[in-house]
Amino acid sequence: MSDGVAVAIKRSVSFTVNDLEVSVPEGFTILQACRSQGIDIPTLCYLEVLTPVNTCRLCMVEVQGSRTLVPSCSRKVEPGMIVRTESERVAASRKMVLELLASSVDMSIASDELTHWMNLYQVDKERFGPLAEPTPLGERHTQHSGQHIGDDGTRAATVYKPVKVDNEQYVRDYSRCVLCYRCVEACGTDAQNTFAISLGGRGFAAHITTEFDVTLPESACVYCGNCVAVCPTGALMFKSEHDMRLNSTWDTSKQTVTRTVCPYCGVGCNLEIHEQDNRIVKVTSPLDHDVTKGMLCVKGRFGFEFVQ
Ligand code: SF4
Ligand code: SF4
Ligand code: FES
Repeated sequence: MSDGVAVAIKRSVSFTVNDLEVSVPEGFTILQACRSQGIDIPTLCYLEVLTPVNTCRLCMVEVQGSRTLVPSCSRKVEPGMIVRTESERVAASRKMVLELLASSVDMSIASDELTHWMNLYQVDKERFGPLAEPTPLGERHTQHSGQHIGDDGTRAATVYKPVKVDNEQYVRDYSRCVLCYRCVEACGTDAQNTFAISLGGRGFAAHITTEFDVTLPESACVYCGNCVAVCPTGALMFKSEHDMRLNSTWDTSKQTVTRTVCPYCGVGCNLEIHEQDNRIVKVTSPLDHDVTKGMLCVKGRFGFEFVQ
């Protein structure tokens, strides 16, 4: 305190990570602390603009004295903590998580980051056997807890289902969904506060859905596309991209990305215009912008069609 003005004092916490003594601001998670030291840890459900939900367990690390591995994205650093981000146990856990996902979910167009981690941990998507035939449409979603019976143990059940195409803005391909909850968070209190989507079912039948599984036009969705922006696997995708992929014309090597300011109102959201063959193919927004934080409204996200 000086001259009656309160001064915020930031305390720091010292801990050891991979035999290195480091100090970070109090309140940092293990993940934040490690990344601030250039130590990377794989994440899936975590995104810096969303509240950690702790669902994927990909970011697990070893903490001395802890019986189980701990999720680095949400566990805060404590004084004197001794952390190992790489060890045989950690690598086995991450590989297992990724193999369980890859055996049941179509990860073929997952984000570059996720693909990098899958390659690093030498993920074998057939570890649990070849993929089983899809269950009849709707069957998995009507199962109750404990009703899921795996095939005969020689094949891996999948979450396959047809792509939901029910509007001109974006499609939902839940055979690519890893249930990371990012879209639910973005549609809820972390950004949009619309609550159009949530989790339905339990166990292997768990899935992202609108209320009563109605189509998007019938739901509370306002087409902000913030769920699409945070999806790491391509389960949620611009209709423009989906159509181009179907026609085999989607080609990121021919695309440019131009950062600009949204012209629709005075908020000043930043846009990243993705262009291919002289057409805008989609619009994203940078996570590091203090106004936007990757989120937009329907005008900024999808209001580009008139340009063509
Ligand atoms: S587009 Fe926006 S409102 Fe619609 S489901 Fe996604 S986040 Fe929710
Ligand atoms: S649709 Fe995408 S963002 Fe939503 S839970 Fe599935 S993978 Fe995550
Ligand atoms: S990234 Fe930490 S639990 Fe998913």
